[in-house]
Amino acid sequence: MEVERVQSISHLSKHAGTIPPEFIRSENEQPAVTTLHGVSLQVPVIDLHSNDEENLVKLVAEASKEWGIFQVVKHGIPDEVIAKLQSVGREFFELPNEEKELVAKTSESGIEGYGTSLQKEVEGKKGWVDHLFHKIWPPREINYRFWPKNPPEYRSKRDVCRETEGSHKQVLLKWLSLGLGLQGHELKAGVGGDDAVFLMKINFYPPCPRPDLALGVVAHTDMSSITILVPNEVQGLQVFRDGHWYDVKYIPNALIVHIGDQIEILSNGEYKAVLHRSTVNKDQTRMSWPVFIEPPPEFEVGPIAELCADGPSKYKTKKYKDYVYCKLNKIPQ
Ligand code: SIN
Ligand code: FE2
Repeated sequence: MEVERVQSISHLSKHAGTIPPEFIRSENEQPAVTTLHGVSLQVPVIDLHSNDEENLVKLVAEASKEWGIFQVVKHGIPDEVIAKLQSVGREFFELPNEEKELVAKTSESGIEGYGTSLQKEVEGKKGWVDHLFHKIWPPREINYRFWPKNPPEYRSKRDVCRETEGSHKQVLLKWLSLGLGLQGHELKAGVGGDDAVFLMKINFYPPCPRPDLALGVVAHTDMSSITILVPNEVQGLQVFRDGHWYDVKYIPNALIVHIGDQIEILSNGEYKAVLHRSTVNKDQTRMSWPVFIEPPPEFEVGPIAELCADGPSKYKTKKYKDYVYCKLNKIPQ
């Protein structure tokens, strides 16, 4: 069955100046009504170069307890590598529709592929976003069927990013682990060790004539353990804090790190997964490139026993695939 892409709807809507009703959120979600305007929120910024490890552990742990999101700068990934990752992703979305449909999601492909809606949306509403999902690590999990053949550099650039982002994941999980008073390897082990899966997503939010009424991705916390994200220069990431939605202030070429549900669970709630969403722009295309670091589907995740010594464990232990199923189908965990 042919799926209508938001990118095509965007072209039609531009002339009409309106958007189809299924993209108009109810008032309690509309960004114009629900965003605290005039302020953009600076989430913690952590300089990986100028801090020693003890400091980094402290900074990462504080940010993860109090915010569930932080940005890292001086992270060692060269700006041109990030720029190249962005350009190959953008070029893919600029291809003719028939080309993009070659890597489209199918009923058997699970989450991977080019697609338009991910979960049963609130009140049947749709997000103003198309996406491409595919796994990038470990090699046995990679299905090249969902990796664009075009642009030709797409595949080689992914390798570079995988390696650099991979090394960041290692240190971030180590610091997060030490920040809980655990040994450095424990959180990594808790998300499946070397079997953890890296899932890349590219979000493509085309221009939207009514950004006041629509949302890109609706409010959610990430299911992953951690998410490492690079946006393009167009504002759009919002976080919920102290009862309000705020725009997040960007720092060019920073990596945005989200604490996801699995780290919240492993830490028995000491670290918090951040509630966030994305808005869209009237004239510009917004894009973002999150990499989700996820436990393998059959791997069981639950609070680490040592962290439940003084109180009850606040979360159930379950296989990651069951967690995902419940979350996507809005079944209480
Ligand atoms: C998401 O959280 O799924 C999207 C965030 C973004 O585009 O910045
Ligand atoms: Fe997210």
